[in-house]
Amino acid sequence: MDQNAKKLAAAKAALELTELEGILGIGTGSTADYFIDLLGQYKHRIEGAVASSQASAQRLKANGIAVFELNGVGEISTYIDGADEATRDRHLIKGGGGALTREKIVAQASRRFICMVDDSKIVAKLGGFPLPVEVIPMARSFVAREMVKLGGQPELRHGYTTDNGNQIIDVIGLEIDEPTQLEGLINQIPGVVTNGLFARRRADILIVSGDRGVEQLV
Ligand code: 5RP
Repeated sequence: MDQNAKKLAAAKAALELTELEGILGIGTGSTADYFIDLLGQYKHRIEGAVASSQASAQRLKANGIAVFELNGVGEISTYIDGADEATRDRHLIKGGGGALTREKIVAQASRRFICMVDDSKIVAKLGGFPLPVEVIPMARSFVAREMVKLGGQPELRHGYTTDNGNQIIDVIGLEIDEPTQLEGLINQIPGVVTNGLFARRRADILIVSGDRGVEQLV
């Protein structure tokens, strides 16, 4: 099975686990896109969705699903999203698509977080995938130097601006032995909006799709 078929299978499994009522939180990326397209068939069962990016908002609307601002809704029942890397204890790196800050906000505002990955994303230790860090532009060089102090090699994502008008530094080489601790440490650096470690708010259910089917880690 190729990677796209695995992503689609993960999205189908996530849909089966999702209570189709009220307002859902929807992530960003190709796996989230599969989920959105499947959700379109059930749009009459939900009120709508809060999107973690402008791209997902557009796709939701194209599927006839109402999109709400987070400020206009209360707690969201379920947040559904993909990830760039995941451990079997459901810690994640996200933000390859640049939507990490809104993803983290909507995940945190949701009672349950279902994450969908194909098995190529499963790692024993996070950090093979460059850690995205969203920064306020005037702090870019300062934050990059702080990343070097933490043992990383920062690289600016050239020509990219987030939906929030900020920039992203991708950091390779970090030793992520304690994801929860490192997430907090990086987020405390002035100028950092957030980083792509999802450990403090990890997935509640991790769906892993592989050649032999779909596994649920809880
Ligand atoms: C976007 C993300 C995505 O969830 C992550 O990049 C995975 O994307 P895909 O489903 O396309 O592999 O964090 O910011």
